[in-house]
This record gives sequence, structure tokens and C-alpha cells, in this order.
Amino acid sequence: MCGIIGIVGAAPVAERLVESLRRLEYRGYDSAGLAGLVDGRIERRRAEGKLRNLEAVLAADPLVATVGIGHTRWATHGAPTTRNAHPHVAGRIAVVHNGIIENFAPLKAELIADGHRFESDTDTEVVAHLIDRELAKGLAPVTAFKTALDRLSGAYALVVLVAGEEGLIMGARRGSPLVVGEGEGEMYIGTDALALGPFTNRVVHLEDGDFVDIDHDGARIFDRDGEPVERPLRIVPIASALVEKGNYRHFMEKEIHDQPDACQHTLSAYIDPITSTVSSPGVDFAAIDRLQIVACGTACYAGMIGRYLFESLAGLPTDVEIASEFRYREPALGPGALCLAISQSGETADTLAALRWCKERGITTAALVNSHESTMAREVDVMFPTHAGPEIGVASTKAFTSQVAALTALAIAAARQRNRIGAGEEARLAGVLLEAPRLIADAILDDGWIAPIAQEIAKARDVLYLGRGAMYPLALEGALKLKEISYIHAEGYAAGELKHGPIALVDEATPIIVIAPSDALFEKTSSNMSEVIARGGRVVLITDAHGATHAPEGVSVVIAPHCDPLVAPLVFAVPIQVIAYQVAVLKGADVDQPRNLAKSVTVE
Ligand code: G6P
Repeated sequence: MCGIIGIVGAAPVAERLVESLRRLEYRGYDSAGLAGLVDGRIERRRAEGKLRNLEAVLAADPLVATVGIGHTRWATHGAPTTRNAHPHVAGRIAVVHNGIIENFAPLKAELIADGHRFESDTDTEVVAHLIDRELAKGLAPVTAFKTALDRLSGAYALVVLVAGEEGLIMGARRGSPLVVGEGEGEMYIGTDALALGPFTNRVVHLEDGDFVDIDHDGARIFDRDGEPVERPLRIVPIASALVEKGNYRHFMEKEIHDQPDACQHTLSAYIDPITSTVSSPGVDFAAIDRLQIVACGTACYAGMIGRYLFESLAGLPTDVEIASEFRYREPALGPGALCLAISQSGETADTLAALRWCKERGITTAALVNSHESTMAREVDVMFPTHAGPEIGVASTKAFTSQVAALTALAIAAARQRNRIGAGEEARLAGVLLEAPRLIADAILDDGWIAPIAQEIAKARDVLYLGRGAMYPLALEGALKLKEISYIHAEGYAAGELKHGPIALVDEATPIIVIAPSDALFEKTSSNMSEVIARGGRVVLITDAHGATHAPEGVSVVIAPHCDPLVAPLVFAVPIQVIAYQVAVLKGADVDQPRNLAKSVTVE
């Protein structure tokens, strides 16, 4: 994963490189580092852990350079130590890398046999040595870089600095994103437009296989065959200010509170409130015989909720699969299928690979994405937006509910297009869905139920989540949220599966969180609660006021607003997020940047 940035500047760059890295921390925060040219020589500063550690190193030992590169790391090869932090240097070369060099082991052996000495355990360091070896043979930097690239297999975005070449930065991408930014007498190169946001909104997205060299005056881009190419310049709508937490303690808390607005904005892309009609711009679901949803993590759980909606409202056969599994089998998809990727970042490697797999086979592709300038957004036939705004907390909240809101709207549009409902029902469902932002706001305001329950859950070692129907994906999402930010082991199950194994875990030390609005499935789930209580288990029931009056004796209750089943996944998402958040705070965990995780997973 990792985030990378390079600046050929007209003024000192160290502070600006750090500013960019702060925007790239969503890609990893195991270590960070900078390298710059000082009197033609490479100087570097690196630190283990969060960016603030690198800032402390720079405060004690400033790096005064006008040309430099930077990196924030999510470790793949080699522990997250300073020694393994990028940039990696060999001779006249400094390199930052996002991706994995799959053949690094034989290359390293070859280079060691050739007299090269390695100082890290990373795959990346071979790249620096390979380029330096070509330079030492007398090749020009650009030729040396290209020659080295020919030896690499795997995925990479690389940015390279060359000692003695003041004003030159080279870059290349294969499988990992890289953009070039144009400034006034300055040029930039980095992982995404967000990283370049403080400096420019004029960006060029490199294509896979592209190679580039930049100097103060501009960029020269070459395609995978070495032919000079022009790539379109895009003006991207990126504010230069970094999103702030405001009065909230954590981004996750802020983003939970952002959800009514995020859903409202997202719904406005699909629902016309004047005509009460719902649209799916770019896709006619009547012309589709099967919907294949692919996604990872939280986005996949949004997709599971989408499946319930597309099948029950629109009668459209729908499958949902984790992208990392989908891409490695031979799914039997015909020409009438639509592959819909769901992704906050639009960069998740497995989801992107699943989309490309479909594209290569002539299957129409769509992506529901929050980053509208992302690789997925640019590669698919149809882009469906969510408008959650930047999500910083690693644990997804507002992106998830925005995805569910958009999927609900698309399912209504599909139902109408497939003649499953008439205009009257379309208008009624649109009205119900437009109520969701207010209900989500009510659920956020009414969180007083949760504090005593969070105290109990914080003491647990294991927690089970149960749900039926569309609440089953929420049970999975609740368990994921809790484990990723509080490090408590949690599992989500379909309530009906309780008797097929998980009930063996029931004891007084294992809270069971049951998500059950008072709908047609409530009584069945209530029986499952009784089975748990009869065995001495502790049940927390998340329901509405009506459900609370029918709760079995002895359960603790969290009451969410009463709502139509259509929007229950949106409303009931709130208490599960707040439970995870409050438990993590009680445990003193790093809520926004949990250990070992990253916001965007751009490696397999
Ligand atoms: C990571 C994040 C999750 C996210 C998943 C998919 O695991 O920590 O919050 O759900 O990636 O990311 P995407 O950007 O594709 O939605």
C-alpha cells in the first residue's frame, strides 16, 4: 500500500512533503521518510511509526532541499522499523515505492553476488540498487531507470531521485496509482490528487505501464512501449485545506455525525424530490439479467444489504462476493450481467482486479465509489457516486451508510425499470428513503442507551453479533467494527445459525449483540435470544421502541428510531458504530488509526 509524493520545487519542500504525507496516511502509517537533494547529494530523514515521529526528527535535524520525495508506509516486506522505512538509497539513487516487487528475492541474490550491500529487509531496496548499477555503467538516469524497470515483476508506483541531477524526478506505475501535478515553475508527482491538493488541482493520471520524468518545466510521459504519450490534464475539485476533526475527539466520531448529510447528498444524486422518481444514470436494469457485486471489507457488507434489496424489490438475481475470492475463480457470468464494484477509495487492489477481470471478458462494469477521481471511477463503464466526502477514520462509517443509501435508491430504480413496481410505489419508496437522513440523525442523538452497555462490552474478550435478513450483514459489520478498533474478538452470525455452532460459545462472559427491529423476523430472532438467556448468556438487543416491549426478560436494550424496513439497515447501522466507537475509546485504543490496518488496501 503506502503513499508517495515527490516535488521538484522552486522553494524548500520538506514541510510540503510532510503535508502531503499527512493526506496519504490513509494508505499506511507504519513509518515515514523523506529524501532531498542537498548540494547535489541525497540526504534522508526517516522515522518508525506515525508521521509525527518524522516531524520530530525533522525538527531536530531539518532537511533543506528544493527537490525531494516522501513516503508513508504500510509494511509488506520487512518489519515497520526505521531501517525498513522508505526512501531506500543505493549509491546515487533514492526510491520510494508503493506495491510489491514479487521477484525481489532472485534480484537481491543477483545484486549481492555483484557486490551490492543491502541495509533493509524490503523488496523495494532492490529497485534502488538496480537503477544505481545501470547508472554506474554510464547510462543516463532515464535510460538506467527504464532498464531497471524491465527487470521488475509485481505491482509498483515508483518515484526516484538521482544525486547530481538537481531538478529531476522520475516515476513509473504498474498496478499502483500515480499522478503528476502541474504548478507554477514547480512539478509534483504522487499517489493521488488528494496528496497534491495543497499545491495544485491540475493533475494528469498516469496509465498502467507509464513512465515519466519531471523537472521544473513540465513532464515527459512514455507508455509501456517507450513511446512518448500525452495524457489528459484534469482539473480536480480538491480543496487545499485538510479535513479537520473540529470539536470531535476522533474522525470516526465526526464521521458518524456526518452521516445524515452524507446520505442526503448521496440520495440527491439518485432521487428527484419534486417528481419522486428514482434514477440509475447510465444503467438500465431491465436490460440486465444478473447483478454481480464485488467489494472488500465494509463495502462488501453494504453489497450484501444491496443484494436483499435488488432481489426483493427488483427481482434481479444478485450475487455478492469478496473481491479477493471472486478474482481467483472462474465465475460463470454471461453477457447480460453487470459487475458492480463497491468501494470507498476506488483503489482497493482486489476490487479493481475483479472489475478488470470482468472488463476483459466483455462484461459491463459499474462502480459505486466515494472517490470520484479514483482508478475504479475512471476505468468502469458507469460510475455511481456516493457523496460522503473525505472519510479519514480507518473504520468506515459514513461511506458505508452512503453506499447503503445509494444501493437502496438503485434497487428502487431497478424495480421500476423491471416493472416490479408502478410510479405510485416508486414515489412511496422514494419518500421513505428520503426520510433516512432524519432518522439517522435521531439515532445519533439518542445514543444515551449505549454508554452502560459499552462499559460491559469493553470488559469482554469475545462478542457475538446476530441478525436476520438485512440485519445479518449489519451483524457482520458490527463485529468487524468492534474488532478493528477495540481489538476485542467479535464474530457476526446469521441468527438462524446460532444453533449450528456459536451457541457453544455462550456463557456469562460473552455478550451477544442482537440486531432486530420489530419487523416480520422479530419473533424468530426473539426465540434465539431466549435460547441464549436460557444458557446463562448476556444479550444486548438493538431494536425499536415496539421491539423493546416484546424483548425477552433479562436483555439489555438499545432503542433506535422506529422505521420502515427499507431504511432499517441505515438507521440500525448507527448504534453498532457507536457501540464500537465507545468501547474503543474506553479501551484507550487508537480509534482513527488502528494497529496494522490501513484505510485503503492497494496490495493483494
Ligand atoms: C480497508 C478499510 C475498510 C474498507 C475496505 C475496503 O480494509 O479499512 O474500512 O471497508 O478496505 O475499502 P474500499 O476503499 O474498497 O471501500
